[in-house]
Amino acid sequence: MPVVLGILAEATTWLATCGTDQWQVPLESRRSRVEQDAAAHTLFLVADRGIDVATITVDEFADADFWEQADDPASALYVHRMAVRRSAAGRGIGSAMLDWAGRRACLRGRTLLRLDAWRTNHGLHVYYKNLGFEHVRDVEPPADRPRGSGMLFQRDAGYHNPLGPQIVQRWPVRRARSSRSR
Ligand SMILES: CC(C)(COP(=O)(O)OP(=O)(O)OC[C@H]1O[C@@H](n2cnc3c(N)ncnc32)[C@H](O)[C@@H]1OP(=O)(O)O)[C@@H](O)C(=O)NCCC(=O)NCCS
Repeated sequence: MPVVLGILAEATTWLATCGTDQWQVPLESRRSRVEQDAAAHTLFLVADRGIDVATITVDEFADADFWEQADDPASALYVHRMAVRRSAAGRGIGSAMLDWAGRRACLRGRTLLRLDAWRTNHGLHVYYKNLGFEHVRDVEPPADRPRGSGMLFQRDAGYHNPLGPQIVQRWPVRRARSSRSR
């Protein structure tokens, strides 16, 4: 948890320097979502030679503020809270995480990988479009439930960028059960 929250905090600080209001809310307000992700085993850390450099959540949660029944929510997996440490940025780790998330979607019989991006952050929209995502639509939830996010993107789950790093998945090592607990 501290590592993930640290990476998200660093991303929030960097975003402020980019002149966007994306994620500019107290980190505490994201803590419970991150805790839920961890408990659900949908939260992942990416390590480069033993150093944690990035985080991503990939799950089946199609935010009902954004995705409608007509979108066939069960056809996709959804990316949330993706961030790369600035010391590791610019090397394609974000792209590698999205490819890995797509493979995970394929393994679960999903045809699409989806995400909702901050509506006013044009630089972020360009980033996703350059990685093969298509803009689905822009959704602004009602004023009594304001959300900065809502620019919806999706791409084929099988999309693969052959350039840049690749992610190798390692499952958490579980302690062997002792003979007494059998
Ligand atoms: C998105 C992210 C994970 C990609 O990491 P990466 O693969 O290392 O790629 P980079 O950080 O080098 O970004 C690639 C380009 O997109 C731009 N970009 C990425 N995220 C951006 C954002 N949120 N707002 C504006 N521009 C962004 C970068 O400035 C960079 O532009 P450049 O090539 O002109 O320098 C990383 O930029 C990040 O942690 N961003 C902040 C958190 C975030 O926006 N997450 C996505 C939420 S939907």
